[in-house]
Amino acid sequence: MTKANRSKFCSTYSLVVVLVLGCAVGPALAASLKSLMGDMRDNTNSAKDVLTNFDTASANRIMERYAVDARAASDMFTGQGGAKEKDLASRFKQLAATANATSQAPMTKAGFRKALSDVTNECKSCHSAYN
Ligand code: HEC
Repeated sequence: MTKANRSKFCSTYSLVVVLVLGCAVGPALAASLKSLMGDMRDNTNSAKDVLTNFDTASANRIMERYAVDARAASDMFTGQGGAKEKDLASRFKQLAATANATSQAPMTKAGFRKALSDVTNECKSCHSAYN
């Protein structure tokens, strides 16, 4: 390969790498929001079981898991330019705060029911805006 050819090969190769990475990273971000949402759905199903069969430790674990998922989702959209991304980041941050506020204190069944209803109202509010 001549020097000129090699540099042509390298710039073509770099372009291909950038394209392939770009295509791989876009859907990966979307896929991981999907998996966080799936985890929130599973957690909501567990929450219903805990309402039926209440214990404080499980109730706190559920709120902690919502908080962790919501923080991860908020981080995914933080620092991105668009109005939608900014709103998603702030809604997920709010959800994390709601869940976190109740994840630490020992919960009664009534307190858990109230916290769960606050959380699921935030799910519904965001879904009606974006889904
Ligand atoms: C800040 C916005 C926001 C909040 C809050 C939110 N979601 Fe979502 N949710 C979305 C968006 C956007 C999608 C569409 C994701 C996609 O298809 O890529 C979605 C999709 C989903 C899905 C479908 C996932 C799939 O496999 O297609 C489920 C289930 C779900 N959310 C559950 C929940 C639950 C449960 C909560 C509350 C604990 C919640 N979400 C809170 C924005 C939100």
